[in-house]
Amino acid sequence: MDKQRLVQTAQALVAKGKGILAADESSGTIKRRFDTINVESTEENRRNYREMLFRTAGVNEFISGVILFDETIRQDAADGSSMVKVLSDQGIIPGIKVDKGTIPLPESPDELVTEGLDGLRDRLKEYVELGAGFTKWRAVISISDSTPSQYCIAANAHSLARFAALSQEAGLVPIVEPEILRDGDHDIDRCFEVTEETLREVFDQLAQQKVDLEGMLLKPSMVISGGAAANRAGPDEVADRTIGAFKRVLPASVPGVVFLSGGEPDDSVTANLNSMNQKADAAGAPWELSFSFGRSLQGAPLAAWAGKVENTEAAALAFYNRASLTGAARRGQG
Ligand code: 13P
Repeated sequence: MDKQRLVQTAQALVAKGKGILAADESSGTIKRRFDTINVESTEENRRNYREMLFRTAGVNEFISGVILFDETIRQDAADGSSMVKVLSDQGIIPGIKVDKGTIPLPESPDELVTEGLDGLRDRLKEYVELGAGFTKWRAVISISDSTPSQYCIAANAHSLARFAALSQEAGLVPIVEPEILRDGDHDIDRCFEVTEETLREVFDQLAQQKVDLEGMLLKPSMVISGGAAANRAGPDEVADRTIGAFKRVLPASVPGVVFLSGGEPDDSVTANLNSMNQKADAAGAPWELSFSFGRSLQGAPLAAWAGKVENTEAAALAFYNRASLTGAARRGQG
């Protein structure tokens, strides 16, 4: 493992004003996204849509890296150059989702555990050859009256750490993503509590499995009220509670946090990120507070594209606008 390279890549991904585009929707998820615009999920449509995002002029001012799905890291753009080259030529680091999705947790079927460790060491070697600089693994934690169980948190934290250790061994920066779902009518205090408990376990496992914290990034959810809660907390409170939870459990040696957007409305996501960056210095937050958004960056361009070649320019403009607003929030200038 080349520690220096890991650290440099992690820092480049959270460079000031920049963050990550998550374009690693699995086959099932991209089909659901395309269903919303009545477009068939063919390989060509997926290529055209993602190539539109990747070729958006000027977007590299705000985007440091893109997370790809297995199909895309092997795919060529319309002109025959690889999608990886389209990104690298603009100074954007290609990354790869390496988990294989979730299955019900044995003996706790309302909860999920993420699969994908079998054969991972060999798959990572191949991804390095294909040009990846970093990896992502998503674990899912749900909040309800009876969840999350300690068992679910422990099982997922263990796999996240196994993934992270194997990634670093291969020279790839792991993005460790324990997503706490927004579904439910719980209040922000409950989300705070679950966030603290989950991150405590994740960092305990990362330490046990000898993961180098300087060469990784955390991809958490923000500490927010449940999506169906009455009187949902605003950006001020979200920023205070999120930074507050991190200060209890997130070591200062982790260079940065790249939030997921989680299906929150675009405006809230941007306002929350902005508030966090405005408060970071005064709150003594030592980490870069950045983004790794899927839906919040892609909702507008997906709708503008609608599967039609003639909409490519309008879709690219919609993507540029979302990336630019997100980049401003990342600097606390939104
Ligand atoms: P969202 O921003 O849409 O939550 O997606 C981020 C992601 O990569 C989830 O794994």
